[in-house]
Amino acid sequence: MDDPGLAPAEHRRALAGLARLNRVSGSAAVLWPAVARLARELRRPVRVLDVATGSGDVPAGLVRKARRAGVSLEVSGCDISQTAVAAAAANCPAGRFFVHDALRNPLPAGFDVVTCSLFLHHLSTDDAVSLLAAMRDAVGRLVLVNDLSRSRFSFVGVWLACHLLTTSPVVRFDGPASVRSAFTPREALALAERAGLTAAVVRSKFPARFLLSWERR
Ligand SMILES: C[S@@+](CC[C@H](N)C(=O)[O-])C[C@H]1O[C@@H](n2cnc3c(N)ncnc32)[C@H](O)[C@@H]1O
Repeated sequence: MDDPGLAPAEHRRALAGLARLNRVSGSAAVLWPAVARLARELRRPVRVLDVATGSGDVPAGLVRKARRAGVSLEVSGCDISQTAVAAAAANCPAGRFFVHDALRNPLPAGFDVVTCSLFLHHLSTDDAVSLLAAMRDAVGRLVLVNDLSRSRFSFVGVWLACHLLTTSPVVRFDGPASVRSAFTPREALALAERAGLTAAVVRSKFPARFLLSWERR
């Protein structure tokens, strides 16, 4: 999906397939408890930035959960791809979305929470450390990274999900390949330490994910 030569129509189909996988695997639900806890503590609208947001379905899911819980969220999202940003703006009208290369440019400040889903496994170890450090530098309170966890179980689960839930050849290729290049929870914790996210916590999330959390004290 990162291929800049990917035709916009195929890119949109892949983003829709990924959104379906996110719904089934509960991406927003993985992030929501930590965001909800912070919202209860701050007692004001919580500002969330989603990095490499894709079709914006994860921030859209957070907005839906916040409405149900009577909590006010202000969501933004950035992505290197204009096609993704346009899809995100359509899928999450409550959000603000912009084109941004998160590996080359610092993230904008002013957010209580900076989230990132399913992007870490695209990165080399050094780029992953740089991204985590950029998230730490930009955030007011909470960094949340929701990503695939590398294991044989994850590989089989993701292969099945990608073949049952989408016909996008891009997603069918990317999904299992992504598990192969993913970090284990223990590796993710080591990346966080290197990035200066001291005392970060990582938890396995069924199916096939982990959630890395770090809070500025
Ligand atoms: C696998 S998708 C994940 C999308 C979304 N976060 C989700 O969970 O469905 C990875 C996204 O990273 C974006 N991306 C790739 N390189 C990027 C960069 N350097 N800065 C920002 N976004 C990038 C791609 O355009 C793509 O939308």
